[in-house]
Amino acid sequence: MLQTAVYPGTFDPLTRGHLDIIQRACRTFGRVIVVVANNSAKAPTFSVAERIRMIKASITHLPNAEVDTFSGLLVDFLKSKQSRILIRGLRAVSDMDYEFQMAAINRRLCNDMETVFLMPDERHTYLSSSIVKDICRRGAPMDSFVTPSVARMLTRKFGRKKKG
Ligand code: COA
Repeated sequence: MLQTAVYPGTFDPLTRGHLDIIQRACRTFGRVIVVVANNSAKAPTFSVAERIRMIKASITHLPNAEVDTFSGLLVDFLKSKQSRILIRGLRAVSDMDYEFQMAAINRRLCNDMETVFLMPDERHTYLSSSIVKDICRRGAPMDSFVTPSVARMLTRKFGRKKKG
């Protein structure tokens, strides 16, 4: 059976760490839906449409990955896609408190659902979207942190040219 897994996040922007998780999920599940949160309390830099566009451009090599967006409860989105697998990345022990709480709440909301934690490559464990934006604002080369399409969108957003 083709098992559908859902990988949610703010993706503001998508980093190579997120992409690493998506690739691992694609090797493990039949269909992976990367889903951009539309109700984030984070006041994102990129619009939902921009985030969808950057993810689409970064996953063209993954035939079983697709992008969507959601607002409201994540468990409702999973039900609407007949999925019971929620993917989350664990970069370090420091992620654990937050992820444990989220997994527990989601289980309480829908007992049928399983959160599956995937570990990104060690090269990406220190990455976050905020760090990537900060590095871009300071004009550093972005290639090892984000895909070329995300780098272009970041450069456009922050009006800086890449160095090096
Ligand atoms: N590589 C790079 N960065 C990573 C990463 C990875 N593998 N894994 C996590 N991160 C970073 C993100 O870049 C982000 O960094 P930032 O804070 O600098 O922006 C941070 O970790 C957390 O981001 P993310 O994984 O996108 O989680 P989130 O907290 O932004 O999003 C939702 C969480 C949207 C999935 C969650 O709030 C949700 O489900 N909301 C819907 C409402 C709901 O159902 N609530 C009940 C369940 S809690």
